[in-house]
Amino acid sequence: MQDLNEFTVTDAVLEQMEKTTNPRLREIMAAAVRHLHAFAREVQLTPAEWLEGIGFMTEVGQKCTSARQETILLSDVLGLSALVNAMHAKTALEKPTDASLLGPFYRATSPHLELGAQIVSTPDAPELVFYGQVRDSAGHGIAHAMVQVWQTDAHGFYDLQLHGDDKMDNRASFTTDADGNFYFRTVRPLGYFIPLDGPVGRLISAQQRHGCRPAHIHFLIGADGFRELVTSLYFADDQYIDSDTVFGVSKSLIVEPGPDTASPFPALDAIHYDFTLSLANADGESRVGADPAQFTNAVSAH
Ligand code: BEZ
Ligand code: FE
Repeated sequence: MQDLNEFTVTDAVLEQMEKTTNPRLREIMAAAVRHLHAFAREVQLTPAEWLEGIGFMTEVGQKCTSARQETILLSDVLGLSALVNAMHAKTALEKPTDASLLGPFYRATSPHLELGAQIVSTPDAPELVFYGQVRDSAGHGIAHAMVQVWQTDAHGFYDLQLHGDDKMDNRASFTTDADGNFYFRTVRPLGYFIPLDGPVGRLISAQQRHGCRPAHIHFLIGADGFRELVTSLYFADDQYIDSDTVFGVSKSLIVEPGPDTASPFPALDAIHYDFTLSLANADGESRVGADPAQFTNAVSAH
């Protein structure tokens, strides 16, 4: 353990961590140290750059509140959230609807509304109807599934950005009917800049990235015995559909509203999309994301 140099220090750290009792923690931390050291050697990290990195991560943490999760945002813009989602998808027992990011604006406690309700408190754009079925992989509707939806308003803002913790809007939860169907009214959300007024925003500007997400509606769908589905539907004609800052778009999730006489509100433009769930396997919780209040509550409980 003496005479450490830029190469032998890696093994010295690995050796000290060897007795970690949790085998998964041992595996993850050993890989993290190996890759972190390799990264520092590759770029020949200087003390000034190391300090800048420490300052950046400190600011990321300090920017987090019960209404904002800058750390998840960082994971999102680095493609880590999309990568973890993609790897998680491969472990499903059956082929579900493609997943997409939960993002930093999810709230666990959105209001439960009746089917057909308007989720926007004061619609200031033409109403749209969304309707669909939650199905198992054989195509049978799943009764009493829980569906949470959230989106920006017609101007590209989430309620959390406008009202903080004080008011929920443009979001709701629904329960599917006996045939697995659900429907609600909304307005067309606008694509938006991810929050750029923090350290992640500075990074995005330094990288000359536009910082936008194409317009979308988020869905979190759960039912007993099935793996939870976190996904979003994206509007086809959005200018950022091919360059999402957080890598959430899949072809299978692109929709285009239009006239639809089969919809529950035939006078309104509609989006019709059916979601397929996979049977649950033993891996339990599978969200790449969280309600931001979860972390601040956890911190204040310690
Ligand atoms: C969102 O879709 O709400 C979102 C996802 C990742 C980063 C920022 C926003
Ligand atoms: Fe979003």
